[in-house]
Amino acid sequence: MSEDGLKKMIIAIDGPAGAGKSTIAKMVADKLGLKHIDTGAMYRALALKAMREGKDCTDGKVLIDLLSRSKIEIRADNRCSPAVILLDGEDVSGEIRLPEINHKVSQVAKVPEIRRELVKLQRELAAGGGVVMDGRDIGTIVLPGADIKIYLTASLEERVRRRYHELIQRGSPTSLAETKKQVVDRDRGDRERKTGPLRMAPDAFYLDTTGLTPEEITAKIVRLCDEGG
Ligand code: DC
Repeated sequence: MSEDGLKKMIIAIDGPAGAGKSTIAKMVADKLGLKHIDTGAMYRALALKAMREGKDCTDGKVLIDLLSRSKIEIRADNRCSPAVILLDGEDVSGEIRLPEINHKVSQVAKVPEIRRELVKLQRELAAGGGVVMDGRDIGTIVLPGADIKIYLTASLEERVRRRYHELIQRGSPTSLAETKKQVVDRDRGDRERKTGPLRMAPDAFYLDTTGLTPEEITAKIVRLCDEGG
């Protein structure tokens, strides 16, 4: 593909928890000079606000009201450093990854009204092209016309191991058994949700990353983009 074509490209990456979507999406974006939009971070930011305000995360009306009073921004222009997530102007990039958010965010992501609003916002963010967007429903619902769709996964054991090490690095004490339970529960919630469930788009490339390094996976995706899918 031409350099101009690559700069306008829209790449959708979906997959289950712990598949490495955000890490890989960021690396692909840096390599191709595109913006990385982590849609999970948007759901997480709203879950954080709900938690801070003690709101019921299963009530669509309450959450819509909360969202209407919130400003969620992604600063993705800082190349080679993690994207910054702003909630009402405050950098919450670290806080949204805390373990207590994981449970809340699954509830928030189940609410159809919230999905509708965030999908609208995500489409606006991708409107000009030049983005790598990762999530659960990007290739199927948010950007069905994406140039390249990737379904990124790995064995359950590897995904649990990755999540476990991530949590330990963040200083959150946990065990492998507890991490496995959380990953399995979250996968089930994401797949069984009525609105925007985790699905592989029929025209997506299936990439099993078990045993591969982030550099190897990134190189595979960049090659697919160069070939224009
Ligand atoms: O990718 P993540 O772990 O940061 O996602 C957080 C939660 O948000 C997870 O439970 C799935 C949900 N999510 C979603 O439902 N749709 C998306 N496009 C992105 C994330």
